[in-house]
Amino acid sequence: MRKSVKAALFGMIALGLVFTGTSTAGAASTPSPRIVGGDTASISDYPAIVAVNQANGGNWCGGTLLAANKVLTAAHCVDGKTPGFFSVNGGSANRTGGPNSSTVKSIWMAPNYNGSTFENDYAVLTLNTNFSGPVATLETNPAVYAAGTNATVLGWGTTASGSSNYQSKLRKVDVPITSDSACASAYPQGSSKGTYYNDSMVCAGFAQGGKDSCQADSGGPLVINGRLVGVVSWGYGCAGKNAYGVYTRVTSYVDSINAQLAK
Ligand code: ARG
Repeated sequence: MRKSVKAALFGMIALGLVFTGTSTAGAASTPSPRIVGGDTASISDYPAIVAVNQANGGNWCGGTLLAANKVLTAAHCVDGKTPGFFSVNGGSANRTGGPNSSTVKSIWMAPNYNGSTFENDYAVLTLNTNFSGPVATLETNPAVYAAGTNATVLGWGTTASGSSNYQSKLRKVDVPITSDSACASAYPQGSSKGTYYNDSMVCAGFAQGGKDSCQADSGGPLVINGRLVGVVSWGYGCAGKNAYGVYTRVTSYVDSINAQLAK
């Protein structure tokens, strides 16, 4: 499908879909700040997080283990890819090296995913090898999206917008849920920064910026009280003023996701 110039620009700049092909890129580069504005995380902070890596070892996306062989990630992480592109790693704050690792058997992408607007940005991977360890609980109650509720996002992504400082050790940052009205004014209909759709998305972050998820955190978890409430989806740059992180609104998709787990 042909994309408009605007959509293509939005895709490249706002979403940062240009990933490195190198392995453990940025592992030895400048530290501060992390994820953006965050800190190191332990796997015990959120044991269901997995690294959705490239088969060649390079950073790509995050994901969340929902069953021994099922991983929730973002549709934009898998769009146009075949299973052989991926290698999934779990049970460790290290992005590669186990204790759980698997190739991907099959990819299911939300059929209503819109690659121009990023509505319905979720997908489920089926692994070839079962992972041990705890699986995530999906939040079902949309009341968790009350503005100001503290949430945590985790990942191995870059530490600044446009940087290639991908991480090999897990990072996390706390970000409050943003009201629908604040997110809609940051990303109004027709905005070149992208558009917020409150049925499929939820925002988190600070009006003044400084803390956010960033490139290669996509597909990873946004968590409240240990439950999965969001999937890292997009943003205009990372951690900028009035440019919140936008997450797939998990409570909207619980039935659709559970249907995939039953397969
Ligand atoms: N689309 C990015 C990815 O593919 C994630 C961007 C998140 N951006 C943000 N400002 N929170 O990794």
